[in-house]
Amino acid sequence: MVVVSGADEVSGSNSPTTSYARIKELREFDETKAGVKGLVDSGVIKVPRIFVHPPDTLPDLPPQLCSIHNCCQTHPTIPVIDLQEATVDEDPTATRSRRKEVVDKIKQASETWGFFQVVNHGIPQIVLEETLEGVRRFYEQDTEIKKQWYTRDLLGKKIVYDSNFDLYTSAAASWRDSMYCVMDPQPLDPQQLPLVCRDILIEYSKQVRRLGIALFEMLSEALGLSPKHLIDMGCAEGHALLCHYYPACPQPELTLGSTKHSDNDFLTILLQDQIGGLQVLFQNQWIDVYPTPGALIINIGDLLQLISNDGFKSVQHRVLARSVGPRISVACFFTTGVQSSTTVYGPIKELLSKDNPPVYRETTVKEFTAHHREKRDRGSSALPHFKL
Ligand code: OGA
Ligand code: NI
Repeated sequence: MVVVSGADEVSGSNSPTTSYARIKELREFDETKAGVKGLVDSGVIKVPRIFVHPPDTLPDLPPQLCSIHNCCQTHPTIPVIDLQEATVDEDPTATRSRRKEVVDKIKQASETWGFFQVVNHGIPQIVLEETLEGVRRFYEQDTEIKKQWYTRDLLGKKIVYDSNFDLYTSAAASWRDSMYCVMDPQPLDPQQLPLVCRDILIEYSKQVRRLGIALFEMLSEALGLSPKHLIDMGCAEGHALLCHYYPACPQPELTLGSTKHSDNDFLTILLQDQIGGLQVLFQNQWIDVYPTPGALIINIGDLLQLISNDGFKSVQHRVLARSVGPRISVACFFTTGVQSSTTVYGPIKELLSKDNPPVYRETTVKEFTAHHREKRDRGSSALPHFKL
């Protein structure tokens, strides 16, 4: 049993004594290697104070209220794009015009929302369902077995399970456990993957990579470039799967599943289950991304905003804690491999003109990542730092 204080004991959170107690409590939690799921399994009925977020970062309405009153249905929602329309058939002219329509929708969504959902994306429903099931099996297996992947020492590791990668630096911990799997560019030895989700994660990784490449082609076209442009720049060279588990939370109004952030990659493909809780910041309002059966969520990452010279937007998003759960999601991040730390990325030359001068200086993925980490703790974007 973990000795962590409950939410009602929060006071003077910035006093040195409290900070000291906080570090101790964080360590105690970390050392269980059982994550938030372990807390819930041990029967906590109050959110421990290390998870209590400052009121200004919490949602105004408890999330349950939102869904009970269906209030969000009057808000705008992110576009759903049918990729079926972009597939090739016998008639090349019809194919071209339908594909152009899809590319236009992707362009529009990427310029405004930075987020869209895709259906008829080519990944079978059964693969999506089994991927979520595989992740569930990982978290719900014997804690003693699961612990072997729990680490804060990332050096050379391709599979990392932890709770809150920023546990010791963020203002408050989030109600979430995660497993990070670096799938590419160097091939991963399948034996390194946990047995209970090994085969399905390999299959999903293969399929999601194929979809990623198709999307980068359409995004290149949406920027007015040749279809292979973004791929040739290395945008899909590497990808990693981040498998999240958001346990049901006894006091969802006090914490978050994930704090507000933008993604530090070129593109993210997100698979979520039917629970909901993901929100996107649109025109200063938090908009719910309702689960759409069979759909995948696509969002533009910071690096694509940088190389598109602000043409596409990397938008902040967060995940609410919910009283129902667990919620399971799998984010696939497309980026270069770490070994590409010398490749320099800046606004794509073909997009620049007198009317569209470069907004950003050039940087490496390594340098950008270092700034992203620092800024994320404060809920802000790393992009302004790279502005000219
Ligand atoms: C992420 C993310 C959202 C989710 O992993 O960067 O935003 O719904 N995940 O889990
Ligand atoms: Ni994200």
